[in-house]
Amino acid sequence: MQPWIALFPPRASTNAGQVDALYGYLLVVGVGMTVLIFAAIFIFAIKYRRKSPDDPMPKGIHGSLPIEITWSVIPFLAMLVMFAWGTKLYFDSYTPPKNALDIYVTGKQWMWKVQYPGGQHEINALHVPTGVPVKLTLASEDVIHSFYIPAFRLKHDVVPGSYETYWFQATKPGRYHLFCAEYCGTDHSKMTGWVTVMDPVSYANWLSETETGASMVEQGSKVFEQYGCATCHTEAQGKGPSLRNMYGHPVQLQDGRTVIADEAFFRKAIENPSSMAVRGYPTNVMPVFKGQINEEDLLQLIVYIKGLSEPAPSTAAVYNGTGQAGRAQK
Ligand code: CUA
Repeated sequence: MQPWIALFPPRASTNAGQVDALYGYLLVVGVGMTVLIFAAIFIFAIKYRRKSPDDPMPKGIHGSLPIEITWSVIPFLAMLVMFAWGTKLYFDSYTPPKNALDIYVTGKQWMWKVQYPGGQHEINALHVPTGVPVKLTLASEDVIHSFYIPAFRLKHDVVPGSYETYWFQATKPGRYHLFCAEYCGTDHSKMTGWVTVMDPVSYANWLSETETGASMVEQGSKVFEQYGCATCHTEAQGKGPSLRNMYGHPVQLQDGRTVIADEAFFRKAIENPSSMAVRGYPTNVMPVFKGQINEEDLLQLIVYIKGLSEPAPSTAAVYNGTGQAGRAQK
């Protein structure tokens, strides 16, 4: 039963308990320090006040090294714990496990469009299984939105022109709120929806019931043809690098950097090829696609390119249309 006033939203992800624990620590340290400081002020003000005009003036005290070290070092350590703990949680949240299930979310005034690798899509709704890590790739078609699921303690800005990734693992089946947490125009307050967490079997059923035909990889392969990518990015020595097994691997760039070919890399490489020129290939051959390709096509294209790499063998790969495992049985 929900208490009359819920101080915390329900906890429905592996992250939720950890975030609440850190928050609890901040609260305890914050309240503890405040109480100590104010208690000291009041106790000293009363105890050492001048009780009558005849009281002699006290002698000045000029510092005490042990006391000063104590009141510096203890708060310093307490704060350092916040820093270390917060940093660990932060990095954990941004480092998805290799076998995570991919889901793609696009914010748009004023709705959330959600796409699954199998081609399923929905608006203002997200379906996820319990016990499987889910990696979200977030994009925006217009302005800054913020994808917010309180029950998962997940909030992430969605910025136009880039991909943001975040991951979580749901723990409890149920229905949870989904919000936009960044004012994004007139109907910002209506940019809400529901997250449905299901056990893995119901989830697999839901996926097959809502299947609409082409998977994102299949749709992406059409986009790949349509934009003429295949002319240069061939298996044989083409004008551009072969895209097979490129995703997830390090790539050497002409400017000397080595980057991991992730979603963000492919996005930049497609929108503005010279910014991600791959070593060993001529520059300024590939046209700039910024403004030429819409978010939907871009996303499908990238999912297609991901599909050209060996998928991680896992439960998630079965849900992921990218793993041939999921669709080959048909
Ligand atoms: Cu989107 Cu507020």
